[in-house]
Amino acid sequence: MTFFAKIAATGAYLPEKVLTNFDLEQLVDTNDMWIRERTGIHTRHIAAPSESSSSLGIQAAIRTLDVAGVDGEEIDLVLVGTCTPDGMFPSVASRIQNAVGAVNAGAFDVNAACTGYLSALSTATQFIENGSAKKVLVVGAETLSRIVDWSDRTTCVLFGDGAGATLLEASSKKDFGSIRSYVLRSDGGQADALFAGGPGAPTEHPLTKEAHIMMDGRAVFRAAVEEMSKASLTAIHNAGLSIDDIDLLVPHQANERIIRALARNLNFSMDKVFMNVEKYGNTSSATIPIALHEANTEGLIKPGDYVLMTVIGGGLAWGAMVVQWSDYCAS
Ligand code: COA
Repeated sequence: MTFFAKIAATGAYLPEKVLTNFDLEQLVDTNDMWIRERTGIHTRHIAAPSESSSSLGIQAAIRTLDVAGVDGEEIDLVLVGTCTPDGMFPSVASRIQNAVGAVNAGAFDVNAACTGYLSALSTATQFIENGSAKKVLVVGAETLSRIVDWSDRTTCVLFGDGAGATLLEASSKKDFGSIRSYVLRSDGGQADALFAGGPGAPTEHPLTKEAHIMMDGRAVFRAAVEEMSKASLTAIHNAGLSIDDIDLLVPHQANERIIRALARNLNFSMDKVFMNVEKYGNTSSATIPIALHEANTEGLIKPGDYVLMTVIGGGLAWGAMVVQWSDYCAS
């Protein structure tokens, strides 16, 4: 039997505390106008001391299952895109699995930096299409504020915390409203363009045990525009579609200038591009599921619409996906 993977519900959770550009002026030599003009970011949300990637992810997951009317025990698999896990182990996915009562589910994290959620969603699609899972909870959850160097103005203004979740369900009936294509790519030769150290770092290496984001902003900017454009066109082609068929572009929310350059490259109207980077900054793996949820709740996606998602991050690792919106997606 052939199974199709359909998005059945979306959810998101942002921590309460908001950090404005004016707040950042007190921390580093920056100003609101520079940040807005160079990045489009006005505010970002910051996790409270008691919060973590798993606690943000748990809230997003609970909201998603609530709107879907699905019990935790119906879930077969919990996948989490994160590069800021609470610890080296257990996985954030296991913590979420426990919190939502997914007693019949397997659970693991996918670390592809910002591309974690799209990688997890692609993996979930495989589990559904090959018949080994019926319901998969896919979460992107991050606390970038924990690995930002708050004395580095070139990076600390860019990132924020948050979580988004998506419930993927199997349907054997028809392909209407299913995930149509996905493409994942990586170039580890550009690892030094964007990285953070960690506990497993070799002792004689520029990577440090301090997990701080280090970035060559201009190199990442160039790669972002080029690779997300190429991946988007490949995903559209693999779905048997053309750019004119795409109803909404939900890109990684890292920088408004990157998003505008991507739309220009694709010859795609900004009217059909979803953007919320001004509110949340770059929440890494969480940007796309949060944006997808907001687009869904704002009524911007109708059943049958084709939604293109694309992302890039540390690795470098990037990807794109085309999904046709299902006729029963809750929000
Ligand atoms: N406030 C004020 N000035 C700043 C600043 C800040 N927060 N950050 C950098 N500057 C300064 C630089 O020091 C530089 O000064 P100089 O000309 O005197 O040397 C100047 O602004 C221009 O720096 P530059 O790095 O060329 O700016 P930019 O236009 O490339 O913008 C980024 C910087 C980081 C916003 C941009 O490169 C970017 O968005 N890159 C991609 C980042 C990204 O998306 N990363 C995550 C991917 S998942």
